[in-house]
Amino acid sequence: MSEVISSTAMEKPAMSAYNRHLVVCTGPRCTQGESQSLFDSLGEKFKAAGIDKGALRVKRTRTSCFATCKSGPLIAVQPDGVWYYNVTAANMDRIIREHLIGGAPVEDLIYHRSGNCA
Ligand code: FES
Repeated sequence: MSEVISSTAMEKPAMSAYNRHLVVCTGPRCTQGESQSLFDSLGEKFKAAGIDKGALRVKRTRTSCFATCKSGPLIAVQPDGVWYYNVTAANMDRIIREHLIGGAPVEDLIYHRSGNCA
């Protein structure tokens, strides 16, 4: 049985404010390495689009598997609950422009939305 440690004894992690959270699967089963390249490009892409800070700031994170291992790169945009496939560099530019800045999800690249089974 593990010891219970009060959280008051621990330092609370810090996180800057963000508008949306973009999660990239960089696992081995949905692409052949393109996802890591996509993730590595996001810092510059977000900066160029002006969404690396301010009211539209997008936080980015990697994960190892969404359990939907097909037709990647795959990303999820939260809290919108929108999951994209085939996120090539050009498609990522569309998602940044139309969704992350414009607020309109890119319908033809969506493979799932939270709250439905489509
Ligand atoms: S490895 Fe990417 S979804 Fe499973």
